Amino acid sequence: MYYNLMPSENIRKKVVVLSGAGISAESGLKTFRDAGGLWEGHKVESVATPFAWENDPETVLRFYNERRRQLFTVHPNRAHLALVELEQWFDVTIVTQNVDDLHERAGSHHVLHLHGELDFARSSADASLIYKLNGKDIKRGDKCEKGSQLRPHIVWFGESVPMLEMAITVVTTADVLIVVGTSLAVYPAASLVHFAPPHAKRYVVNPEIPNTICADKFYCIHKNATVGIPLVIEEIRSFVFDS
Ligand code: APR
Repeated sequence: MYYNLMPSENIRKKVVVLSGAGISAESGLKTFRDAGGLWEGHKVESVATPFAWENDPETVLRFYNERRRQLFTVHPNRAHLALVELEQWFDVTIVTQNVDDLHERAGSHHVLHLHGELDFARSSADASLIYKLNGKDIKRGDKCEKGSQLRPHIVWFGESVPMLEMAITVVTTADVLIVVGTSLAVYPAASLVHFAPPHAKRYVVNPEIPNTICADKFYCIHKNATVGIPLVIEEIRSFVFDS
């Protein structure tokens, strides 16, 4: 006799994934803190702050245009794809600090970008005016419909994180929290790990687990995302079907 092993919709557990640059590293995108604090050869403050935008918009635009072009040369890896498979058994929401679109291109349905998205531009005068770029560069003189210069749709250092409240709400519903590929060095994103409810199972996947998380009830998997994420999935599937 066969039993249906798929939990019905109303008892599906919620998995929340907090991802960072490390999940895209094996797709060929460099992480931020892996080259002496430089991001693709640039100091973060010279390309990713409102001050940089005010003082040297040309460099800022060039930097993000390069990042966007690079994005179209890479593909989702096994870790991104495994998180899509996870949707067969769980309600999955990905809260990502990444500005790449590899979770979406892999096929994940619920992705919340905390720090913006590379393939979008927004008005520098009205943050609600957001435009899909489809790989196009942003140039000096490209304007929104209200006549203001377009800027990258990125949350720069020193700016508020508009999606934070929504991300907190999502994390508070987690039955399982998976933290993958992040140094947890940047706040407020890093503080999200503290909003998981007490019953939630917690996993961290990272070859170099940040010290800040070890004491915090996390099951630590010291592996690259493409190896560690499938391991976590195997484990949480058995946890659901055995409970
Ligand atoms: N698999 C899993 N984790 C990896 C891998 C991998 N293959 N390769 C590297 N890592 C880990 C590193 O050990 C490190 O802990 O990924 C983490 C990357 O950390 P950061 O470069 O600090 O990236 P992130 O945490 O996403 O940065 C947060 O900072 O610069 C800002 O806004 C930017 O969103 C970014 C934020």
